[in-house]
Amino acid sequence: MTVYLNGQFMPIAEARIPVLDRGFIFGDGVYEVIPVYSRRPFRLAEHLRRLQHSLHGIRLQNPHGGEEWARLVADLVARNAAEDQYLYLHITRGVAKRDHAFPNPPVAPTVFMMSNPLLSPPAELLAGGVGAVSAPDNRWLRCDIKAIALLPNVLLRQLAVDAGCTETVLIRDGFMTEGAASNIFAVKNGKLLAPPKDHLMLPGITYDVVLEIAQAAGIPHEVRKIAADEVFGADELLLTSSTKEVLAITALDGKPVGAGKPGAMFAGLHKLYQDFSPSGRG
Ligand code: PDD
Repeated sequence: MTVYLNGQFMPIAEARIPVLDRGFIFGDGVYEVIPVYSRRPFRLAEHLRRLQHSLHGIRLQNPHGGEEWARLVADLVARNAAEDQYLYLHITRGVAKRDHAFPNPPVAPTVFMMSNPLLSPPAELLAGGVGAVSAPDNRWLRCDIKAIALLPNVLLRQLAVDAGCTETVLIRDGFMTEGAASNIFAVKNGKLLAPPKDHLMLPGITYDVVLEIAQAAGIPHEVRKIAADEVFGADELLLTSSTKEVLAITALDGKPVGAGKPGAMFAGLHKLYQDFSPSGRG
């Protein structure tokens, strides 16, 4: 696997960073995950816009302009073998003596990118859906920043894995925010419900695509806060992310969601999503 680190492409085994990197010491950095279908990055401009939002949120200057990022991304895709890939972009505040305050004067940021093969969810998961657990959302109040400091997300996601499930649905102050590593939609009486993008959730690129698809296809939908009891009483629950695309959650906390199998909203949206994006059609 060929990766990019601070201006150079190299085999992953040769990529090294100093232990005083603030990403390692403090989790002081941000990241992006960009799907690539048939060697074409999907929604690159939107991912780069969100990266800029995250960098702004942590007061770190963007090390590259849009065209430069696009060139680096194209180069990384070309140097890796898979037709479908997911790219990981990671920027930290650089290497400095350990001090919580920003290095002054600023030091060069660390810029790392890697690519992995993107495997769309297998047929069994599409046919059967996935299980989820619920948990209180105990993360910070800037979940709109795609921060590399993911310890709460790691611990929350592990709750799902410990229960033999795929995702943890997060509840804060009586409302559903998102998943530990995905956005969550609910469906009630044929209407798709999406929580509003605010500081309590990551503004998902796949989330946007699903809402655009719903709009274009005339699927009833509403963006509003979703109460916890609406989640537990939903006809369907869906999760979305760049790597999982759209999946049905068919069990929550060991109880069936709706009929306990992927429903009509999932089937419709999943098909439209495939027509729209994967295999580079977007
Ligand atoms: N995570 N919410 C959280 C907390 C996430 O970590 C992710 C994606 C999403 C979905 O965003 P998008 O549709 O833009 O992928 C929502 C990525 C895939 C990850 O951390 O690997």
